[in-house]
Amino acid sequence: MSKSTVFPRVTAPQIVACKAEGRKIVGLTAYDAVFAALEEEAGVDFLLVGDSAGNVVAGHATTIPMTMDAMIFLTRCVSRGTSRVMVVADMPFGSFQISTEEALRNAVRFLKEGGAQAVKVEGAGFLLPTIHRMVESGIPVMGHLGLTPQMINVFGSYGLQATTAQEGEELIQQARDLEAAGCFAIVLEKIPASLAARVSEIVQIPTIGIGSGAGCDGQILVNYDLLGIFDKFKPRFVRHYMKGAELVREAVATWVHDVREGTFPAESESYEAAPAGDKKSVKRGRKAQ
Ligand code: KIV
Repeated sequence: MSKSTVFPRVTAPQIVACKAEGRKIVGLTAYDAVFAALEEEAGVDFLLVGDSAGNVVAGHATTIPMTMDAMIFLTRCVSRGTSRVMVVADMPFGSFQISTEEALRNAVRFLKEGGAQAVKVEGAGFLLPTIHRMVESGIPVMGHLGLTPQMINVFGSYGLQATTAQEGEELIQQARDLEAAGCFAIVLEKIPASLAARVSEIVQIPTIGIGSGAGCDGQILVNYDLLGIFDKFKPRFVRHYMKGAELVREAVATWVHDVREGTFPAESESYEAAPAGDKKSVKRGRKAQ
């Protein structure tokens, strides 16, 4: 990705340029500073502070309960942990549907308080004027079509979307509308791979796939899925790049064992006060980690 000389982070125009350059865009979710820093070091282009935090961080059954305050807190954590990636804040359910003014006010909070460089909204249709207004106000917007989890109560399941020819045509129109409204990219979640490839050919802005095949201009996953930390179930589109859950269980179980056996902490993992009057060692002691 070509580097900006004035802005240290990846920008929306750079993400858009990737499509013309034929360079795949890589996004990943993050919800805290430590993981965000590791993911940035690993080379992702953007981090999405997804409202999937509602599932993996907060333990809710859906993303619906996530609030603006909770999402702002998480976004701030991810922003503080990074310096190069673009941070995209996911607008939670209820934060952008009520009115354009309220949506704009909430999106502004993500940039001012959360340190994000862009926001993501689920859906199209009635949102188009809101998206247009945000972009005109200086807020890059990432769209999200297909399986939009905030619609769970209407959809009734997290199944594959746009499975009929008519639904496919409707989704293509929505993608065109999002592009016309000013979105710089569109997440395509859980739609047939052939449809996602068609959308990617039709719109000029990049498509970012999740469960939508290899024809998208980029890919995104939930970090807990990629790392195998969330292992209660594995959707077909997830690949575990490590057995995170197993590693965590094993490490914690070993520590529990060591504490109970009295082998943790060792002497080398403990402190002693320096002898009185020994200024040198007192100084060293203060510095001891
Ligand atoms: O909330 C989220 O993590 C998302 C991604 C799955 C795209 O919206």
